[in-house]
Order: sequence, then C-alpha cells, then structure tokens
Amino acid sequence: MRSGITSQQLQAHVRKLGEEHPPIPLESVDFTVNDPDAVRRRFAVLFDYLARVELEVERNVRELDALLPHPTPEDLLFYRGVWYEQELRHGLILDRLKAELGLPPAEPLTVVGGPVRALGVVAHLGPIQDVVRCVYYFTGASTERQAVLAYSALIERLDELGERALVDTVVHPIKRQEPGHFAFYSMSATKLVGELAPWQLRLAQLLRSRTYELVGTHRDPAYQAQMGQVADVLGFGHDPHEYAREIGRLEARLLWDNARGMEYPPYVLEAIEESRRLAGQRAA
Ligand SMILES: [Fe+2]
Ligand SMILES: [Fe+2]
Repeated sequence: MRSGITSQQLQAHVRKLGEEHPPIPLESVDFTVNDPDAVRRRFAVLFDYLARVELEVERNVRELDALLPHPTPEDLLFYRGVWYEQELRHGLILDRLKAELGLPPAEPLTVVGGPVRALGVVAHLGPIQDVVRCVYYFTGASTERQAVLAYSALIERLDELGERALVDTVVHPIKRQEPGHFAFYSMSATKLVGELAPWQLRLAQLLRSRTYELVGTHRDPAYQAQMGQVADVLGFGHDPHEYAREIGRLEARLLWDNARGMEYPPYVLEAIEESRRLAGQRAA
C-alpha cells in the first residue's frame, strides 16, 4: 500500500535536520570530569565502543557509495550532506573525551567488507537496488535506535555520578541529533515498503534475516563481546526482550507486518543474546 510520503517531504526533513543540527561545535564541549577514575572504570569499554562506532561513519559512507550506485536525491542529501558530518563530530568528541580520560584512541574499521562489495555489484540492477535500499533503511533505523537508547542510558548513569559537564555538553548534545536520523530512515522505509513488489519484500526479509547485526559488531566475536559488555554496562542485559522490542519494533511492523504477533524480528534478539553470551565467555 502506498504510504503517501513523498520525496519532497523527505528532502524537506533532511534540509531541516541540517539547519537545526549543525555539527556540534568543538568549542561548546566541556571535558571536565570530576572523578576520572570512576568514569574510566565504569565506562572505558562503552566510550571505546561509542567512539569507534561513530567514527566508522567514514566506512559507512563508502559502503553506501558501493551499495547505492543510484541513490535518490534524498538519500544523497542525507548521508553525504547532513548525517556524515554530524556523526563524524560525535566520534571526534567521544575520542577526545577518551584522550582526556587517558584512554587510547578508538580504532574504527575503515575497510569495506567483501559481502558489501558483492552486494554492490548486483545493486546496479534497478529492482535489486530498491531491495538494497530497503535493507539500508532498516539497518539505519535499528542503528539509530541503538544510539538513542545507549546515550539515554549513559545520561542516567553519568547523572548518578554527578558528571554534569559530560551530560550537558557531550552526551546530551549528541543524543539530540540521533532521533532525526531515525525519523529519516523510518519515513524512507515506510515510503519504500509501500512501493515494493511482494518478491522484493521477501528478498529484503531474507537479507535482513541472514545479515542482521548489532551496530559495530561486524560479525566479529571480539566486537560482539564488546557490544555485550556495553549492553550490561547500560543495563539492557536484564531484559533482552525489552531491548529487542525497542530496536526491532519498526521493522517488525513495516517489514514483517507483525506476522503472528511479532513484536520484534527474532534475529534482533538472537544478535543480542549472542553478544551477551560472548561477553560472558570473555569475562569467565
Ligand atoms: Fe551519532
Ligand atoms: Fe545517528
């Protein structure tokens, strides 16, 4: 069913995002930490994860160039014009915070993986390109939800410690920029799903089932274990179902039509459980 969302609406949304959320000025950030030892102890893994994932935007843009040989004007405006600069700045700020805490710089992955390059080859075919775009929007939506949840939980934890400067000038300003990204993916996915043929939707479902991963885990057990640790630091570990619901709700509705009462796609919970299992293994 057609959604009624137009390309013009999407472009207007992106332009507004760009106007209202320029990259966070570095000079607005106050890196004062009251208790560096406590912050380091509790959040070293988390800051490493967040800085790395934000800095991997460089790689993401290269992946998108490969995956979307014919991007729509709104895609291009979004990922090259607005999103890239915002996310890169998030990463630079978090990496600087790591340095202030005496932690080593993040090591973002920069190389585009083989599966993405392979998918990029078939993505030149129009009907497949639309399926790839569909997968891209759901990946983006899931990623941005994970970001908002992580930053929200981090704000609560830093509040408990009384780290006002970090809350007010680092985490909150970053967190404020993420929901607009989610909205772009959500609107884009809504529009596209309404335009796809049944076989394209089935292929998108299959690709999501086979390739789903939590952001920044790259099918690498070390990164997956780090994600599992992050989930525990932020308190998502005690209710993985609720976490899966938060991340997978949009996709369950749009891509799977909430089939048989689905609240989130099963692969979302599987990815969470696997990360936590690997984190547990490391701890032991
Ligand atoms: Fe970000
Ligand atoms: Fe984002």
